[in-house]
Amino acid sequence: MEILFLKTLLLLAGCLAGLFYYLSDLCVGEKRTAEKPNFIVILADDMGWGDLGANWAETKDTPNLDRMASEGMRFVDFHSAASTCSPSRASLLTGRLGIRNGVTHNFAVTSVGGLPLNETTLAEVLKDAGYITGVIGKWHLGHSGLYHPNFRGFDYYFGIPYSHDMGCTDTPGYNLPPCPACPRHSAAASSPGRDCYTKVALPLFENGTIVQQPVNLTGLAAEYAEKATQFIQRASDSGRPFFLYLALAHVHVPLVVAQPPSGSSFPGPYRASLREMDALVGQIKDKAASCGAENTFLWFTGDNGPWAQKCELAGSVGPFSGAWQRQRGGSAAKQTTWEGGHRIPALAYWPGRIPANVTSAALLSATDIFPTLVSLAKASLPPHRRFDGSDVSEVLFGQSHQGHKTLFHPNSGAAGKDGEIKALRLAQYKAFYTTGGAKACDGSIGLEEHHQPPLVFNLARDVQEQVPLDVRAGEYQAVLPAITRALADFLQDIATDNVSMADYSQDPAARPCCNPQLPVCRCQACGSSPAAMD
Ligand SMILES: *[C@@H]1O[C@H](CO)[C@@H](O)[C@H](O)[C@H]1NC(C)=O
Ligand SMILES: *[C@@H]1O[C@H](CO)[C@@H](O)[C@H](O)[C@H]1NC(C)=O
Ligand SMILES: *[C@@H]1O[C@H](CO)[C@@H](O)[C@H](O)[C@H]1NC(C)=O
Ligand SMILES: *[C@@H]1O[C@H](CO)[C@@H](O)[C@H](O)[C@H]1NC(C)=O
Ligand SMILES: *[C@@H]1O[C@H](CO)[C@@H](O)[C@H](O)[C@H]1NC(C)=O
Repeated sequence: MEILFLKTLLLLAGCLAGLFYYLSDLCVGEKRTAEKPNFIVILADDMGWGDLGANWAETKDTPNLDRMASEGMRFVDFHSAASTCSPSRASLLTGRLGIRNGVTHNFAVTSVGGLPLNETTLAEVLKDAGYITGVIGKWHLGHSGLYHPNFRGFDYYFGIPYSHDMGCTDTPGYNLPPCPACPRHSAAASSPGRDCYTKVALPLFENGTIVQQPVNLTGLAAEYAEKATQFIQRASDSGRPFFLYLALAHVHVPLVVAQPPSGSSFPGPYRASLREMDALVGQIKDKAASCGAENTFLWFTGDNGPWAQKCELAGSVGPFSGAWQRQRGGSAAKQTTWEGGHRIPALAYWPGRIPANVTSAALLSATDIFPTLVSLAKASLPPHRRFDGSDVSEVLFGQSHQGHKTLFHPNSGAAGKDGEIKALRLAQYKAFYTTGGAKACDGSIGLEEHHQPPLVFNLARDVQEQVPLDVRAGEYQAVLPAITRALADFLQDIATDNVSMADYSQDPAARPCCNPQLPVCRCQACGSSPAAMD
């Protein structure tokens, strides 16, 4: 009898221990009331609108994202805040266009500055509201001194400081033209390949420390997934809400896929990379679900359209071909204000809060992420500045279909002065005061042209931006005054706002460098010895 009792007790204890062990693998955050939701913002790099299967039936490589679309809300008229990297990211993290936050073109390996220090990031606002904040992936908003992500509101950082083609690696991947591996001798280091950065090997940071230089690109996706999973676990265990900004390396070149192309089923590097990204997003979504899906809002989008000059290594603009520009040479994707440059895939997923399987045609912008998350976190917008984004939570929750009436698209490299607003959207109309094409696959560049009165397309019947309205037509005459007024009002708003200036100066000392004695700043030859950044 006593022995039986003891046995039962032991069995019970064993079960409890097992249960405890099982629970420890889950997340404490699950029990936390959803007073402040968790946020995960996943940003793809150079992903085209047509690279999302749910948007474009020809694409069959995104099963996880397509499922997320059927379980959440898919936005078909969602725009990045610029069609190039640093400005797009700066706007996402400040809710303000480059013409206000000062970031109007990309930062370099030797950039001294970054996103102006008196701009307030989303991470800073959320951190003040009690959130644990992390950024995993590509930063590209300044890496030197106080511009490093750990000083911009992020408790945790793991990733590369800029694009992964801005430094050589020993695993150079698919690129056009192909880039050489990192030189191992000083003599080789001074003869860089065409269009390739080879002088400073690509570094990988964890917080302020370079943990690898050059980065092993082959394992990077898996490492991002692991670090993101750990971050979510740690944050959930702490019982505090978290904000994770996951800025993926996919699908910007070079493309590096973990599975080597063996056998006839290799779909080509671009599609393989898209699939790898899709799988990674699926992993993060699953991890978030294990920590309480009903507490976590996941927003997936991209930084800008595809990088057309990379030919078959670039993504798909879907129907947004920018036909008017293409007839004149150059590409109408990344770096341009054509739809292919800034209309990007966007999905919002939050089971129980955001209705499932809904397609929204509301005109939205990546600048909306900032005010929306700030509002959901019951925090306040930083004072003394105006924002381009709005709180769009009513659209997310299916209570409204009303997006922006106007959106302003800054020049981003292909034409005009960077950051300047020379194209805008008014309802279904798109107006251009300046046009130009970026470098295309065939090497052509569309010349800059100025249009006064503006070139106007009606996207409701011409998504490919092929035939501008006839300036004498009634439709043109009817919409022109509203376009002119919208631009004048916007410029007046900018003129009376607090506008920041980015420091774009360069100094070789600003390069992130593990060991200046070694060619290309390698960490120790075997890549094992981390060095603190000063
Ligand atoms: C990164 O910094 C955070 C915040 O200071 C700290 O909690 C974490 O342990 C650091 N991680 C590493 C790997 O240094
Ligand atoms: C890079 O990472 C891959 C996958 O993790 C691994 O197989 C390979 O050995 C690594 N290469 C180097 C040079 O460390
Ligand atoms: C989503 O909606 C589409 C069209 O409205 C429908 O065909 C499909 O079955 C729905 N999917 C789910 C998972 O409900
Ligand atoms: C600009 O900043 C000043 C002082 O910081 C403030 O008084 C003013 O209201 C701000 N302007 C706007 C448009 O917020
Ligand atoms: C940042 O500082 C600059 C220079 O003092 C100022 O002109 C600008 O208005 C400030 N930006 C904000 C958002 O306050």
